[in-house]
Amino acid sequence: MQALPGFRDFLPEQCSVRNYVFACWRAVARRYGFAEWEGPPLEATELYKKKSGAEIVEQLFNFTDKGEREVALRPELTPTLARVVAAHEREFKKPLKWFSIGQFFRYEKQQRGRLREHFQLNCDVIGETDLAADIELIALCIDMLRAFGFSEKDFVVRISDREFWTDFFRDKKVSPERWDALLQAIDKSARETREKTAEKLGDLSGPVFETLKSGSKSSKLEQLVEGLRARGLADFVAIDVGIVRGLAYYTGIVFEVFDRAGKFRAIAGGGRYDNLIAQLSDGSVSMPALGFAMGDVVLGELINEIPTARESMRKAIANDAKIDVYIVIAKEERRADAVKQIQQLRDSGYRTDYPLTPTKVARQFQAAEELGARVALLYGDEWPQVKMKKMETGEQELVAHDKLLDRISELL
Ligand code: HAM
Repeated sequence: MQALPGFRDFLPEQCSVRNYVFACWRAVARRYGFAEWEGPPLEATELYKKKSGAEIVEQLFNFTDKGEREVALRPELTPTLARVVAAHEREFKKPLKWFSIGQFFRYEKQQRGRLREHFQLNCDVIGETDLAADIELIALCIDMLRAFGFSEKDFVVRISDREFWTDFFRDKKVSPERWDALLQAIDKSARETREKTAEKLGDLSGPVFETLKSGSKSSKLEQLVEGLRARGLADFVAIDVGIVRGLAYYTGIVFEVFDRAGKFRAIAGGGRYDNLIAQLSDGSVSMPALGFAMGDVVLGELINEIPTARESMRKAIANDAKIDVYIVIAKEERRADAVKQIQQLRDSGYRTDYPLTPTKVARQFQAAEELGARVALLYGDEWPQVKMKKMETGEQELVAHDKLLDRISELL
């Protein structure tokens, strides 16, 4: 039996990587004053049909449950967030700054950087229309990646504005019914042939290609970049109106993060979705919102690609795996005394390990070394004293067994 295509087994090594990624995500989100929340992994299929957009609905892992409900494993968090915020809006002061880390499921064709399950960090701000919130969110996204050891040479946030295009369509007197299809065509233009995009754009293909080529911008986009420049983050971003995003609910500023070398798929993406909460609550609650999500799959590939990030991760994981104390049982008749001490050490919060069965002393010291123990305690002929060895320097001393805890707390 094997895992299903696109699903991963997380052995301890992969779990360490995942924990490292989650810890960085959590630390930076908290630094920005975001509160953690979580939604259910299964939702009514309707929630996604209402507004996520055709592409995501095609990718749903959906089924009819035993109560005849149409349900789907969540492909993304944003519709859940809109549902939850609409229901609990009165309980919180605005703006809400919420983050969440969870697993998502999309029935995608498995390929590099795309699986059928992945973990995402989502960060969203609810209840703020001011551009200051867009700037803050993009700064958070940049700092998330800086926390992994990436610099402006490694990644770029491509920023655009859907309003730039809707103004453009209005100016060209395009009827609003066509806007969604046109936006999707522009979104796909970097990945599809020019002919295919031209066919979808029809009479607008000339002016759209011209606009994409000329590197257009708007004063709103320039203001946003200025806001990031004031924070010293302008080198991490580029205006690129070719970014539109696949999801249907975005209304304003949108952005996607790519590696500078252009080797991987998007690391993260997000934007403003000022109408989604109103749409999902049938107009009963209306609130502006914006957010982004960063996936663990492409991020993991980029960490492995960039030496500084890879080294930071290796160090953090190695440090995290280290134990404090290893107990060497040199004389089996001391095992009961040793185990009593182990219990006390663990109760006091020290990460402590020992051999479960009789083992050669040299092998035990080797284990202490491999586990990164800072101190080894040897239970043998010296009893009622215990030989304590500082693993880094090799220094040894004899300590009365009932004074061990005090001595260890001085050392560690
Ligand atoms: P998204 O662009 O669909 O946005 O996904 C965000 C990130 O999740 C992507 O950039 C990618 O790194 C990762 N990702 C998506 N699908 C897969 C997959 N099949 N395998 C591996 N990684 C994947 C959203 O989901 C929006 N809900 C983000 C958002 C939050 N907008 C506002 N708030």
